Amino acid sequence: MTNVAIVGTQWGDEGKGKVVDLLSEKADLVVRFQGGNNAGHTLVVGDQTFALHTVPSGILWPGKMSVVASGVVVDPEDLIKEIMSLTARGVVITPDNLKISEKAHMILPYHRLLDAARESAQDGQKIGTTGRGIGPAYEDKASRVGLRLGDLRSEETLLSRIRLALKEKNCLFQHLYGVPTLKAEDLVKRVMVWREKLWPFLANTALIVQKAQKAGQKILFEGAQGVQLDIDHGSYPYVTSSNPTTGAVAVGAGLAPRDLENVLGLVKAYSSRVGEGPFPTELTDDLGQRIREIGHEFGATTGRPRRCGWLDAVSVRQAVDLCGVDRLAITKLDVLAGLGELKIATHYELNGHWLDYVPADCQDLAKCRPVYKTFPGFPANVGSARSLEDLPKEARRYIELIEELIGRPAALISVGPEREQTIILHEYF
Ligand code: GDP
Ligand code: IMO
Ligand code: MG
Repeated sequence: MTNVAIVGTQWGDEGKGKVVDLLSEKADLVVRFQGGNNAGHTLVVGDQTFALHTVPSGILWPGKMSVVASGVVVDPEDLIKEIMSLTARGVVITPDNLKISEKAHMILPYHRLLDAARESAQDGQKIGTTGRGIGPAYEDKASRVGLRLGDLRSEETLLSRIRLALKEKNCLFQHLYGVPTLKAEDLVKRVMVWREKLWPFLANTALIVQKAQKAGQKILFEGAQGVQLDIDHGSYPYVTSSNPTTGAVAVGAGLAPRDLENVLGLVKAYSSRVGEGPFPTELTDDLGQRIREIGHEFGATTGRPRRCGWLDAVSVRQAVDLCGVDRLAITKLDVLAGLGELKIATHYELNGHWLDYVPADCQDLAKCRPVYKTFPGFPANVGSARSLEDLPKEARRYIELIEELIGRPAALISVGPEREQTIILHEYF
């Protein structure tokens, strides 16, 4: 076993940060392959909590290589702040243990401005983005007016490419959104300050990953967001602008698809979603509120309250098939303790028909009513469980049911935010 991809099967925030940190102890490399600083991955170590956005979640372990690969969009200013704040807390980050792809596209201030302007436009389409400029940065990458970190090489190139990008953006700012325009020269000055700080970290990361793979090193691929937010397979248009599915590991990290060996699918024991878009099992009542409070379901990036609901086996099954998930990491089981009767959606009902799949059309999905299986809850706190035997039998039954409904065995069960609060059922490395 040499590599494992870790992906969220729901709408993000399944606990990927905790699980990546945990598995990093035995890994050599931890690679972020898509998304940007829209991600908020929380690591809890003793009395310290770290919220990571672009820096991979293996960074706390000494002697590991962290890689931000080319599929990631990087906000240089935000990344510098993240590195500085981690360093100030004693985390060792040097060009030896953090490599950032020179092919990764930059999120620039005009991307953030555009994201915000679109989200606040009265006649626009509100997605409920994280406001980090993710969509506009991926748009520029696809339309070939983006700037890559490697472009920091030359001030002249920067100026001409920023001028090109600003031509259309300034027109939109001035005439469509009525916000101040930006000057290429001012931006280049700002960018040159970032260059000094980031240049030593830049590398051809695909070569690093391929070399590690050939040498049989242990690699973790850290997904951001979740499959239901995938730009191709999620509830479009209420999605992010990248592919959190495992196909993106190959493209984003620069590895042949056949070299991916294991896929661990993160499944929170219930569901949460931030931002707009259909959410069939959402609980808009007091119970939803209780889950939010007990599970501290507030965004690690934006602080927004997360919408909460029951586990949706229909969409998780879809994620498992899309990603080739072979095992599950079931997280936040402890949050369900004491809630009384528990439910899992096994099907959707749409226009009088039962569906065992997620309809392609987002408007159809919005009309789907969940069909639930209901069973007894577990009263006891499970946070101190370290083996299945330590769990109340109802909690064990809940886990078995998830495994049955999803059709994959659990590799681990997380019963609290801390590293130790984990029941390990399968060792990857
Ligand atoms: P990610 O985006 O998938 O990395 O998840 P987030 O870090 O955004 O959100 C998960 C939250 O749940 C964080 O605050 C974690 O510290 C916390 N967490 C992770 N696993 C568990 C667990 O098993 N139980 C509880 N109660 N909290 C957990
Ligand atoms: P992690 O990695 C939860 C959501 C936003 C919004 C949609 C589009 O922590 O699981 P974007 O800013 O990407 O254009 O927003 O995607 N979103 C996330 N929700 N967890 C995340 O990341 C998310 N990243 C983006 O709330 O609905
Ligand atoms: Mg998160």
